[in-house]
Amino acid sequence: MLVVDFGGQYSQLIARRVRECRVYSEMVSYDTPVDEIRAAAPAGLIFSGGPRSVNEPGSPTVDPEILSLGVPVLGICYGLQLMAKLRGGRVARLDLAEYGGRPLAVVQEDRLFAGIPTETACWMSHGDSVVEAPPGFAVTATSPHLPVAAMADPGSKLYGVQFHPEVRHTEYGLDILKNFLYEICDIAPTWTPVSIIEESVERIREQVGNERLVCGLSGGVDSAVAALLVYKAVGEQLTCIFVDHGLMRKDEGEEVASTFRRHFHVPLVHVRAKERFLTRLAGVTEPEQKRKIIGEEFIRTFEEESHKLGKARFLVQGTLYPDIIESGAGTAAVIKSHHNVGGLPDDVDFELVEPLRMLFKDEVRVVGEELGLPESIVWRQPFPGPGLAIRIIGEVTKERLDILREADAIVLDEIKRAGLYRQLWQSFAVLPAVRSVGVMGDERTYAYPIVLRAVTSDDAMTADWARLPYDVLERISQRLINEVPGVNRVALDISSKPPSTIEWE
Ligand code: XMP
Repeated sequence: MLVVDFGGQYSQLIARRVRECRVYSEMVSYDTPVDEIRAAAPAGLIFSGGPRSVNEPGSPTVDPEILSLGVPVLGICYGLQLMAKLRGGRVARLDLAEYGGRPLAVVQEDRLFAGIPTETACWMSHGDSVVEAPPGFAVTATSPHLPVAAMADPGSKLYGVQFHPEVRHTEYGLDILKNFLYEICDIAPTWTPVSIIEESVERIREQVGNERLVCGLSGGVDSAVAALLVYKAVGEQLTCIFVDHGLMRKDEGEEVASTFRRHFHVPLVHVRAKERFLTRLAGVTEPEQKRKIIGEEFIRTFEEESHKLGKARFLVQGTLYPDIIESGAGTAAVIKSHHNVGGLPDDVDFELVEPLRMLFKDEVRVVGEELGLPESIVWRQPFPGPGLAIRIIGEVTKERLDILREADAIVLDEIKRAGLYRQLWQSFAVLPAVRSVGVMGDERTYAYPIVLRAVTSDDAMTADWARLPYDVLERISQRLINEVPGVNRVALDISSKPPSTIEWE
């Protein structure tokens, strides 16, 4: 399935939902030449929504021939309006723009709505509307203020909906998509993210031949899955380099190293560089300076180690499909010099191998599970490249790092015990640069507080503070104060992003 993107906020979501229906989908820009689309031989096309008006001069459009390829097309929102306009219908701005949940009435039997109640609810978000369906099209659904909520010309295999079937608030949205995919496009639902394993193994072999590769492991799921796929393809032509900057969570460095070396037998250089990073961070309190030092030191260490290995031609990166889409590359072979391993410089002398470039994050996790990666890596919450250093406000010293590492381990332990780990985007401890007075036994203490930060989020662009149960908060607080020397108080961060950020630095 090709999702033709007109710049809509839900375009990626359409592609993901189609894959959830077990049909492989890719996104292409609306200006992809029609010959290229024909050559890709898709089983169907979905036109996405978009922010413009089809009546505005210069708004995104397609070669009308794309509607005559004999391939079924489903237009959604802007996609519907464009289809209407290209086929001689009329699109106008009605007085009433619709945003949010609306009733939907199916007014004519249609394969798109097979098995769906005639009265249902859908999600709308549009200014313009189709006010007159094109010749040859039947109006198949309406909503209270909308003469054309859906239209169809089954003879030409053209279908359009004003609402958003990809949004969960559309009651039967997924069923409508399935009707389009399975019934109208006649695709069998057989694709799973695991299908890409064999395919990418082949592709990697072709791309790299007998050349050597290096891969930077970060401890996160993306670089781990990328490395394992490459290892599966070319075995010991790959060497992984794991720069352990000593700013990881408790036992995490050793876990990554032992998973790769002992469990998978992947050649691995485990660089224990804690002293080196701590030395460079001594006396530094300014957040951006900390980040810069860690980034630079990371690159230097990585380069030194890879030079020691001799010349590698390729660098393996865990770049994901959303990064590729955002770089504007679509399905084209343009490679974004995007670095997610601690920020390698753009001028590194490598060609890139990016086996995850067609996958979404949740799909990478499925592949990771299939490859046998442990749950602790596959389902690890996001962790910033600079690690605990940006959760220690003020100077990063060995003593303060030890406090935070222990505190963080307790927070995670309790969150996991409460069964909340996967529901939370991130949950962690922060060590501020203040101390306060307390009393323990009969003794006065003057020690650090720990700030507890737990957030929910879909993509880290926005986040909300998690409403953790009081009993979980209480257990975390008691354990932090009793078990971590140097801590005598616990505070809870109840700020959302924006205006705050998830991390403190
Ligand atoms: P903020 O604090 O900006 O963080 O709300 C958004 C998300 O990004 C993560 N983060 C990083 N990830 N390198 C990374 O790989 C970094 O330097 C970095 N800084 C922040 C953060 O944990 C959150 O998920």
